[in-house]
Amino acid sequence: MVNPAITIIRDEHRSIASVLKGLLNHVAAVKAGKEEADLFLFKAMFDYIEAVPERIHHPKEDEYLFRFLRRRSEEAGAILDELEAQHVKGREDLTDLRKKMAEYESGGDIAAFDRALTAYAESQWDHMGKEDNIVIPLAEKYLTEEDWAAINAAFEVNRSSNAW
Ligand SMILES: [Fe+2]
Repeated sequence: MVNPAITIIRDEHRSIASVLKGLLNHVAAVKAGKEEADLFLFKAMFDYIEAVPERIHHPKEDEYLFRFLRRRSEEAGAILDELEAQHVKGREDLTDLRKKMAEYESGGDIAAFDRALTAYAESQWDHMGKEDNIVIPLAEKYLTEEDWAAINAAFEVNRSSNAW
């Protein structure tokens, strides 16, 4: 049986990836002159990223999945260091994206906003891919049943579908 925490992490990654794809599709349509820029949509999507991935999803990974895995596997240390640093960097990148959007809103070029958004989406996809393809398999290999019981409980308490 797949641990509920793994199903929740994968579902949350899919939701985050869909929101990023929606942002990029809209920017591409605006650049192509097919749609008017919907600034409310950008703000709503940034608010979602702040409310769910930043406040719930990444902290749960850091505090439960990564913390338990560090205890059980030395091998996982380097990738967990990298991913935790990316959680910190992701928060900074989101602040920067809001700034770039404000500049665009006040008459700036959409290209700068588009570049920042594309770089942000690519770094998030890469990050989630490493969690799905490297961290989860290591966790399945090394974590004990007691570890999973604690992790599953934490992930089920505030899964993002309940929070959003
Ligand atoms: Fe993460």
